Amino acid sequence: MADIQTDVLIIGTGPAGSATAALLSSYGIENMAINRYRWLANTPRAHITNQRTMEVLRDLGREVEAEAYLHCSPQEIMGENVFCTAIAGEELGRLKTWGTHPTSKAEHLLSSPTEMNDLPQTFMEPLLFKTACSRGTQARMSTEYVSHVQDAEGVTTTCRDRLTGKEFTVRSKYLVGADGGNSLVAQHLDLPFEGKMGVAGSMNIIFKADLSRYVAHRPSVLYWVLQPGSNVGGIGMGLVRMIRPWNEWLINWGYDITQGVPDVDNAFAEGVARDLIGDPDIDIEVTSVSTWTVNNCYAARAHKGRVFCMGDAIHRHPPSNGLGSNTSIQDGFNLAWKLAMVLKGQAGAGLLETYTDERAPVAKQIVTRANQSIEEFGPIFGALGLLDSIDPVKMQENMDRRCDDNPTAEKQRASLREAIAFKVYEFDAHGVEMNHRYTSSAVATDGQPEPGFTKDRELHFEQTTWPGARLPHAWVFGDGNKKASTLDLCGHGKFTILTGIGGKAWIDAAAAISDELGLPLTSHIIGPRQQWQDHYGDWARAREVDDAGVVLVRPDHHVAWRSKGMAADPAGELRRVLKTILDR
Ligand code: FDA
Repeated sequence: MADIQTDVLIIGTGPAGSATAALLSSYGIENMAINRYRWLANTPRAHITNQRTMEVLRDLGREVEAEAYLHCSPQEIMGENVFCTAIAGEELGRLKTWGTHPTSKAEHLLSSPTEMNDLPQTFMEPLLFKTACSRGTQARMSTEYVSHVQDAEGVTTTCRDRLTGKEFTVRSKYLVGADGGNSLVAQHLDLPFEGKMGVAGSMNIIFKADLSRYVAHRPSVLYWVLQPGSNVGGIGMGLVRMIRPWNEWLINWGYDITQGVPDVDNAFAEGVARDLIGDPDIDIEVTSVSTWTVNNCYAARAHKGRVFCMGDAIHRHPPSNGLGSNTSIQDGFNLAWKLAMVLKGQAGAGLLETYTDERAPVAKQIVTRANQSIEEFGPIFGALGLLDSIDPVKMQENMDRRCDDNPTAEKQRASLREAIAFKVYEFDAHGVEMNHRYTSSAVATDGQPEPGFTKDRELHFEQTTWPGARLPHAWVFGDGNKKASTLDLCGHGKFTILTGIGGKAWIDAAAAISDELGLPLTSHIIGPRQQWQDHYGDWARAREVDDAGVVLVRPDHHVAWRSKGMAADPAGELRRVLKTILDR
């Protein structure tokens, strides 16, 4: 007999583990989360928080979303991505990023009820963790995962209390490995990985310094400093990232991984910070230094039997594009409702198989994109003439040549402009963040072909109700001028049907099927003088079905199924689709 019983044991309280715990507790599922350390993230690693993640927070509750906005640096101060020779030195170019370019801002506003923002991990983790614990999660800190054994009915996990050294066992129906990039759970599960770990070395230098006079007029979260000859391979590119405007900073600085992990002391760290700032009179206080490795590795399968891995445990990649924590939280949004429905007897175990089908492709996509984004700095180095020599004097001369008055210099200036503009694929890739379309048995297309993308699918998000895609966002209006996004009508752990005038038979069918299957189903009619009114007409333009048609939405806002018009037997159709999707 195990020492502790629970329905779901979660290893790790990072963004993935805490989000999953918060969602499971919100859905009324008993769960326990453990963390080998005594507290949450001690450095503000992740920060770029995209709209899809904010939609997960909004689904957890408007108070959770509001608290994120309270602690974040808002979108309007995120976007002047600067390339320079020092913070106090010459500026080489600038790019409007993270949805702050006017055209991109419009696309962001049209896509979601939420706003992208900069929320350091030291704020995001406590918010998710607090939400989880206050809603029922049993959390044990200073407790580490040791091993697990699974059988047909559940999983027995051995944990160690790091304060007493004593081991104990937890019996759960499911185990979630959200234990980060060195996941022991994924290793014990022998998940198949593709790619390579440790492709480059990097360090985080966290420091305090008031840099307002150099940055407040060009507010950004990222300042890229290029100093020829100062680091590995001759090109010294350091990233100075804002943690809090404008006096808390984090530097990313590379090290040569072939020489092993360097012993970085505060004096070295302060030296790097001073070089990148370029003003000897600025007061600097280094508060922490740590090293990490750049990885290029993803799991081709994210679960086996009753054990599921998520977050960095299945996608390991550099911070480029700011995708890690975001994707980790979204993994949780995909898995939590499936676990909840299986545990409540509303779905068969086959539903859980779709976790790998839906999230493993996302893992591959983001790992590939993040690593490609590193490569795409190459054209900037090339345009500045930094690839032609490793002699710092020569490199500086090459950079200086772009200011000459001759056709070669004019070409060089054009190349630099183009190379910087191309970095939009890292710093404003809305499509990478939002265009996920799932193909699995938890989605029923009924053979409808996937609509193509009319624009670059990495840069632009395109909404569709094609089953598998995330439900389009449109503002609708209820009683008392209540304004809600179509996404707000869905989620919260339930399936939802959206229909219009002429679709009343879908509502009746949903009520009958809800009783028959013991499955809570939310229904909304959108149309004039109905529960929700589509004053702008945006929903009518986005829904791709007729007034009497229906869109069935999963708890994670992805479209499960749709019918263009009224069916001859609406209850029969809903029964067929839900039974297939839920493996009943
Ligand atoms: P994470 O590693 O955060 O958490 C793992 C958890 O498991 C921890 O609680 C740990 O203590 C616990 N654990 C591990 N082993 C255990 C064991 N044996 N027993 C018990 N507990 C165990 N992402 C992003 O979305 N936007 C961004 O802007 C950035 N920026 C960024 C900058 C820098 C410099 C870095 C290094 C990283 C980023 N990231 C990012 C990435 C982001 O930090 C990362 O993807 C997430 O922290 C991953 O979250 P997880 O919950 O999967 O793992």
